[in-house]
Amino acid sequence: MKSSEVLRGQVTNAADHPDLRGDMFPVDHETLGTDCEVDGELPAGLRGHFMRNGPNPMFEPVGKYHTFDGDGMLHGIEFTGDRVVYRNRWVRTRGLEAEMKLGRAVYPGLSDVMNFPDPALVGDAGPVKNRANTHIVRHAGRLLALWEQGLPTEVTPELDTVGEWSFGGQLQGAMTAHPRIDPRTGEMLFFSYNLFPPYLTYYVADATGALLHRVDLDLPAPIMMHDFVITEEHAVFMDSPVVFNIEAVATGEPMMTWRPENGTRLGVLPRHGAAADIRWFEVEPSHVQHFWNAWSDGNRIELAGCRYSTVNFGLETEGTEEDSGVQTIGGKPARYRIDLEQGTADWEPIDDLLGEFGRVNDDRTGRRTNCLYMPAFTRPDAVAGDFDTVVKYDTGSGSRSTWYAGDTGHLGECVFAPNPGGTDEDDGWVLNLAHDSGTGRSALLVFDARDIERGPIAQVRIPERVPVGFHANWFATGDGRPTPSGARRPSLRRPDR
Ligand SMILES: [Fe+2]
Repeated sequence: MKSSEVLRGQVTNAADHPDLRGDMFPVDHETLGTDCEVDGELPAGLRGHFMRNGPNPMFEPVGKYHTFDGDGMLHGIEFTGDRVVYRNRWVRTRGLEAEMKLGRAVYPGLSDVMNFPDPALVGDAGPVKNRANTHIVRHAGRLLALWEQGLPTEVTPELDTVGEWSFGGQLQGAMTAHPRIDPRTGEMLFFSYNLFPPYLTYYVADATGALLHRVDLDLPAPIMMHDFVITEEHAVFMDSPVVFNIEAVATGEPMMTWRPENGTRLGVLPRHGAAADIRWFEVEPSHVQHFWNAWSDGNRIELAGCRYSTVNFGLETEGTEEDSGVQTIGGKPARYRIDLEQGTADWEPIDDLLGEFGRVNDDRTGRRTNCLYMPAFTRPDAVAGDFDTVVKYDTGSGSRSTWYAGDTGHLGECVFAPNPGGTDEDDGWVLNLAHDSGTGRSALLVFDARDIERGPIAQVRIPERVPVGFHANWFATGDGRPTPSGARRPSLRRPDR
């Protein structure tokens, strides 16, 4: 729980690991709370916490380091109305605590994840370290740091670690880093993918955090599924051909392979449906790592995301220096359409820009959204994670607006913070945690979501360097999303096995 101990990192050998160079080099200390200076004028309605998760190894990595491997570190920026306070803390998972006692890393990276550490060294932390490094969400009053191969880890608004959250013991497996929270019902819908059957399990937690629904779903092969989407009636999954090769552990072959011959299917399941209720729709082989949103309109479902026609996440190779790390930089914005009546699905491009981490106004999750936000890669020498441009699409008008961060600017995810009391979809602010390698400064950029091209209307100066990271969220003060009165509660369904 609450700890005033300031942890220190011990990574020095970045030169040995391509994924630790430059702006990916980890921060070596925690900050328990420092006031920030602000350039420009912060909107009065911006009250709450911005939080971002990302990999930040505490110790020298064991073997090859991949950016997916680092210990989760949270960067938090609190807007009280009078002050803006910055904090950064490691997520103190059981695996990291075990390594802290030893004073060194003992868990290998994901490329060699089955080479488990000696149980005598790690005790009850288990054979695989929960990195807790990918995302941070809030549900049923809990802040949860997420990693898709482990349980959520609860933290406090001050970024102290509470511990793993298993929904009162109801969740034994992993949880995706991309659950979907329905703003109307307060439900959190999520899934886990598994290396062994059942390859996919779907869950619904109600607004109080009780796990009410679990369905095991058949897939032809063990795949890496990073995200999914919901409508007001459905959960929609993409079964894409990013396939795990279990035998690789013994043979040294690539652990994850792109197998377009397996095809790509979109699966539509009624939100509280049983395994037999899922319907699959074939589309051209492709993969989407992150979706914007989805909605249904009669018998049609539309979803959008950055689409890959092929992928290489760097876990596919044994890793020469040139091969190490994520090789696929970004996807291209696209929409998929499913016709439930005709039994067909297809896709069409939205744009040719390379991007990732698409976000919408989360108050519209599962309902039609026209405003899509995305950080993009426009520099010719772009590498994965090094976004340089904020992009907003208005699919209603067909317009695209952009803001370029400059040749030394490096951007993060575009998080939408709604203006309290606002009614328009884009009435609010886009928040982006950025770094300028020219000045060495990091800052939280605040954009008026209705006028991206104007550039930031305010910048919060972060007193520390913030390395490249993964996902972020905005948690407005006083927006705890209690259970709506009269909300329909799904009936408790036993696991389908
Ligand atoms: Fe993600």
